[in-house]
Amino acid sequence: MNNFTFYSPTYFVFGKDTENEAGKYVKRFGGANVLIHYGGGSVVKSGLLERVEKSLTESGIRYKTLGGVKPNPRSGLVYEGIKLCKDENIDFILAVGGGSVIDSAKAIAAGAKYDGDFWDFYKGKVIKEAIPVGTILTISAAGSEGSSGSVITHEDGMLKRSAGGDVLRPVFSILNPELTTTLSNYQTACGATDIMAHVFERYFTNTKDVEITDRLCESVLLTIIKEVPRVIENPKDYNARANIMWAGMIAHNNICGVGRDQDWSSHKIEHELSALYDVAHGAGLAVVFPAWMKYVMRNAVNKFAQMAVRVWGCEMDFEHPEKTALEGIHRFENFLKSIGMPLTFEEIGAKENDIPEMVKKLMGENDKLGSLVSLSAKDVENIYRLAL
Ligand code: NZQ
Ligand code: ZN
Repeated sequence: MNNFTFYSPTYFVFGKDTENEAGKYVKRFGGANVLIHYGGGSVVKSGLLERVEKSLTESGIRYKTLGGVKPNPRSGLVYEGIKLCKDENIDFILAVGGGSVIDSAKAIAAGAKYDGDFWDFYKGKVIKEAIPVGTILTISAAGSEGSSGSVITHEDGMLKRSAGGDVLRPVFSILNPELTTTLSNYQTACGATDIMAHVFERYFTNTKDVEITDRLCESVLLTIIKEVPRVIENPKDYNARANIMWAGMIAHNNICGVGRDQDWSSHKIEHELSALYDVAHGAGLAVVFPAWMKYVMRNAVNKFAQMAVRVWGCEMDFEHPEKTALEGIHRFENFLKSIGMPLTFEEIGAKENDIPEMVKKLMGENDKLGSLVSLSAKDVENIYRLAL
């Protein structure tokens, strides 16, 4: 196991009706003049925004609202939010929504405390300061409610890039599984795929003797495999929703990733797809991950066979471990199919002709990608082609 530090300061408030305590927690974490940030309208339609506004008002907290965050959030609204925060002396940002809203809130929070262009952070500049962010999560997926990351697409060139830093970790996150019952099965499945992907990026490592984190990863995967079919069958199943919601947090606050090298090439390969075609991040991952797995599997047969046996219930073929490894990948593909996820370029409207452009955009900034296997531009192209 490698040396590590682990800092996860977020205060989690989990359970039914907890959004009604938003005012109490904003106050506890020092907010008096708040920006409520939200998305394309689901929180208006469900009445959640109204309940949150009421809670803030009852706690004597002033607020402004800024809605309109799109999935795969864009830079334009971030600039607008930064200006608003500076003009109005905002001291707290409350993100009400999914990963896109939370990531947009984090970008605004960092940009409002910085004199330069917030995009500098997405080009690698260290984030030293940010307005505190609290979240009320409405979809179990990105894990941004507990993570240090934020992913934004710059409209100039449609570059989708991430920034990170412990100052971006939310000070509190309110997780009420009931809020996720209005999601379509497709959105639920996209979120579940992202949760699994966050585990895979950590699980497939060359670092040896990381049994505790391997077992945590496997437990998140087993939970998703058990609970997602239950919510697809019955979207109002509270306990299944609750298990998925907590799994989504555990998958990405890095408790599953400490002490080991992590890969993250599939996420970067996927970000080019969601930037170009505006597909849901989880759907893009469903297309990329099985292709990446098949491409790199021979370099880490034992790890893939371990997952096949422990997670997918395959029998170990000691004579031919690669057969076990491949069977695990097939069972993963079948699971994705069973929950309605796409597996090919065609199903998400991606085009073979665009592959060179995506490779160029991605590898123009990176010589090599990934850690389990170090990928060249040619490898990335081959992975896209495997997903056709
Ligand atoms: O905008 P509204 O109207 O709210 O609709 C959203 C959106 O259309 C809808 N939705 C959310 N909660 C709902 C709901 N509809 C009905 N009922 C509800 N309760 O779902 C759609 C997707 O929302 P979005 O926030 O985009 O989903 P997600 O949480 O999957 O976030 C995706 C973004 O997160 C980034 C992705 O790249 C993508 O841009 N990621 C962020 C990470 C991080 N910050 O740590 C890590 C991830 O790997 C990921 O890259
Ligand atoms: Zn992700």
